[in-house]
Amino acid sequence: MTLTILGIESSCDDTAAAVVRGTDILSSVVYGQTALHADFGGVVPEIAARAHAEKIDLCIEEALAQADVPLSAIDGIAVTAGPGLIGGVLSGVMCAKGLATATGIPLIGVNHLAGHALTPMLTESASFPYLMLLVSGGHCQFLIAHSHDRFTRIGGTIDDAPGEAFDKTARILGLGQPGGPAVQKAAEDGDPLRFKLPRPLLDRPGCDLSFSGLKTAMLRTRDGVMAEKQGLTGADQADLAAGFQRAVADVLAEKTDRALTEYLALNPAQPSFAVAGGVAANTEIRARLQALCTAKGVTYSAPPLALCTDNAAMIAYAGGLRMAAGQTDDMTLSARPRWPLDDRTPAMLGSGKKGAKA
Ligand code: KG4
Ligand code: ZN
Repeated sequence: MTLTILGIESSCDDTAAAVVRGTDILSSVVYGQTALHADFGGVVPEIAARAHAEKIDLCIEEALAQADVPLSAIDGIAVTAGPGLIGGVLSGVMCAKGLATATGIPLIGVNHLAGHALTPMLTESASFPYLMLLVSGGHCQFLIAHSHDRFTRIGGTIDDAPGEAFDKTARILGLGQPGGPAVQKAAEDGDPLRFKLPRPLLDRPGCDLSFSGLKTAMLRTRDGVMAEKQGLTGADQADLAAGFQRAVADVLAEKTDRALTEYLALNPAQPSFAVAGGVAANTEIRARLQALCTAKGVTYSAPPLALCTDNAAMIAYAGGLRMAAGQTDDMTLSARPRWPLDDRTPAMLGSGKKGAKA
């Protein structure tokens, strides 16, 4: 029987609900909060939590209406139970528990990162195993996906996530938030070679990554231009944005090359790579990763842009896989601020300063 799952997502600054049947996305509604946080230069957890609590039921109603599926036809209620900003995760979990109690529909707690990491199966019919690069505002890791609930991390950031660096760079350059799309837009007319920016950790073996040094270098380089010219011209902004984006793309491409070599040595019969998470929406990064895969004879998949960033379709899909495996939850399901996908590999030192965000 194909399961019809209601998905609920509220772990950061998007309130989302979706209805997914098998791999058919019947609806996917996202209420963003960008405007609410605009004055603060980042997501304010308390504001996010309150906005989730206010909007979540409306969002669910809209998802059901758009899908034209009554609640009585839903087989399972999947909700992000972590990792994320705890107030937001709690809003979603409490709402899902209430709905499950009132209707008797089974409850399924989903790891937000598993939602991102399983998206290639939802949108691109990928099959296990595959190498996954998860790049978002709070995470950056290479994972081998063995099954819907077994992942091995073979590398990751030792400090910031690239999305965080994009957001910071946008602030440094006086561009809007979220920073990724703003920097990408500014970079379109820029010269990526004008400024010399570092490619952190490329000189070290392995596929761990680092982005905090690049952030600092951006700040210094901007200050240098400002001191020289008493301001930033549009061309300076574009060149800085293009230089930054090229540096991130270079690092991600080189580290992906290494991760692929490691993955292919273990799984030569399944040359398959997928990228997901908000930063996977970046056109230059997508193109670089795709070119790399083509050169190595590896199948490449990247979800459509709307399913790269946070959404509830990925949570519904991941929840459906859990439910099919008999992994439903009861009312003891708790909201978790931290929840590594691979809990056998030791946590990385310094990883995810903003780790609550995924
Ligand atoms: O996965 P996601 O929606 O949320 C969490 O991180 O939880 O990722 C959001 C991140 C933000 O940092 C945003 O700036 C970045 O993804 N992002 C991008 C682009 N679109 C979104 N970064 C680079 N280029 C983009 N086009
Ligand atoms: Zn996310």
